[in-house]
Amino acid sequence: LTTLEVRAPSGVCRVLVGESLDHLDRHTPPGRVIVITDATVDRLHGSSFPAGEKIVLAPGEASKSLATVEEIYGRLFEMGADRSTFVAAVGGGVVCDVAGFAASTYLRGLPFGFAATTLLAQVDAGIGGKNGVDFRGYKNMVGVFQQPRFVLCDPDVLRTLPPREIANGLAEMVKTAAVGSPALFDELESRPGQALALEPDLIRRAVHESLRVKAAVVGSDEREAGPRRVLNFGHTLGHALEAAAGLAHGEAVAAGMAFAASFSVRKGFLAARERDRIAGLLDRLGLPAAAAAPAVALVDAVRKDKKRGGEAVHFVFLETIGRPLVREIPLAELETAIHDLR
Ligand SMILES: NC(=O)c1ccc[n+]([C@@H]2O[C@H](COP(=O)([O-])OP(=O)(O)OC[C@H]3O[C@@H](n4cnc5c(N)ncnc54)[C@H](O)[C@@H]3O)[C@@H](O)[C@H]2O)c1
Repeated sequence: LTTLEVRAPSGVCRVLVGESLDHLDRHTPPGRVIVITDATVDRLHGSSFPAGEKIVLAPGEASKSLATVEEIYGRLFEMGADRSTFVAAVGGGVVCDVAGFAASTYLRGLPFGFAATTLLAQVDAGIGGKNGVDFRGYKNMVGVFQQPRFVLCDPDVLRTLPPREIANGLAEMVKTAAVGSPALFDELESRPGQALALEPDLIRRAVHESLRVKAAVVGSDEREAGPRRVLNFGHTLGHALEAAAGLAHGEAVAAGMAFAASFSVRKGFLAARERDRIAGLLDRLGLPAAAAAPAVALVDAVRKDKKRGGEAVHFVFLETIGRPLVREIPLAELETAIHDLR
């Protein structure tokens, strides 16, 4: 077990890397604990949960909605939860995002922690303090910044993940490597097969390194006023693809990274050889390195997803692997690039 700390204005989060899910109750405070999970995680790993009450959600992105938040509020109300009740979310990014939001807002905030059960949630979604839900088809439109008390990452629970979910998690790992850890990129590049097979030593090191990079970035800029934007590498087009092409989050981010790398080459920031390394690694990890949606649909989705104001976007380019460059560009330039490079 190794621990990392995220210190941010909304709280301090302890990240427990290599801790067993069976030990979740060692990290929850004494007193009442309500587990929130989804039906798949409950079926596969429910025997490791602390004894007691639980709320079981339907698996999948559709549960990241205000309707689910209302369902959780209803259950907490019926159970008579009060401010001393601790909420332990056990699941992937969907469960962590929606349960973290419900816990942060019910009775103006119950204490909560996460046991992240997908690779994607362990390396990315679980940590960072962003909790929220989708709204009217757009990602993460409603939410809060609030650090969980802890994020527990048990490598053993990853063994039940289907291959597609492993690849999804590796996509966010490649993202973190591309913007903050050339050493992690090299390691994934030299051993993609072992990464996909979740070779324990490699995964333990890679999860830890991804978390180290993310914890440092979040600690310096929790609310994404500046430095944290680099973690959105691949996400501008990624979010559009998730909406327009129905890809899983990691797959959409992969295609978004390949696009961002090509756009970086076109702008003269990145060498073509580096872009080819990124596309090559994504390919070897079984991830899409191209956007499988018509340019018009993507432009439309980017435009609709551009709810954050103005006719400009903060786009994350790369100068080299490990060195991101955030530039504000006109939306029209992004749209032209989508038509030309997709
Ligand atoms: N808050 C953040 O900073 C942040 C960052 C990145 C992604 N996200 C969000 O995370 C979500 C994606 O997360 P995800 O990929 O974990 O999706 P998910 O939570 O939907 O999990 C994917 C699938 O795997 C199943 N599953 C979970 N753990 C399992 C296990 N151990 N074995 C077998 N199956 C298991 C789930 O039931 C689900 O069907 C998206 O909504 C994305 O927007 C949030």
